[in-house]
Amino acid sequence: MRVDVITIFPDYLAPLREALLGKAIDKGLLDLGVHDLRKWTYDVHKAVDDSPFGGGPGMVMKPQVWGEALDEVCAGATPRLIVPTPAGRPFTQAVAQELAGESHLVFACGRYEGIDQRVIDDAATRMPVDELSIGDYVLVGGEVAVLAIVEAVVRLLPGVLGNPASHEQDSFSDGLLEGPSYTRPVVWRDREVPEVLRSGNHAAIARWRRDRALERTFERRPDLLEALPDAELDKQDRKL
Ligand code: ADE
Repeated sequence: MRVDVITIFPDYLAPLREALLGKAIDKGLLDLGVHDLRKWTYDVHKAVDDSPFGGGPGMVMKPQVWGEALDEVCAGATPRLIVPTPAGRPFTQAVAQELAGESHLVFACGRYEGIDQRVIDDAATRMPVDELSIGDYVLVGGEVAVLAIVEAVVRLLPGVLGNPASHEQDSFSDGLLEGPSYTRPVVWRDREVPEVLRSGNHAAIARWRRDRALERTFERRPDLLEALPDAELDKQDRKL
């Protein structure tokens, strides 16, 4: 997968070359380009923003600069353009799975009050565009959202995780939150690992895990249980 990120803070994206993502780059599974938006400015101040029409606080990112940046970064390709914004549709595991099927993603990081809307409308005539939010809170810019989105997407690419079963058991992959996990020692500070997990009885372990996932989801995210199609619940689940 090819990923391009356009930002006024290229250093902010340095963690994309660390740990699991760094390994994905080394293995040739991820081809990453980070571009400084100011490369497409021509004035002495390298200005990327201007005051908003209609008034109000904050600044809006200029269409000319973004237009040229996207023309150059997207030249000869039809990538999917992702614009992180608190006004976007929610980024979820299902969206991560969808994006993991793409061959080229371009991220446009806005700062200030956002990017002139015409940049997004113009790009949408040439390529698929998604405005995505990573949660109901406001960050200073899109960079941290890009870190979260790229990490969630790249770990789904075949060959990135050592054990492909890892993400089949993720929270959300069955619509539920994952339950608790334990490792050695069996007793730590008088707290014992649940006996069933040490029993070797695989059916009992699977049932126990499913019950803890249901309980946790009920307590913390009742909205997820509400959204679960009835067919996803087995007879035993329904008794809980
Ligand atoms: N930019 C600022 N806040 C954001 C959020 N919550 N999600 C995505 N991009 C953002």
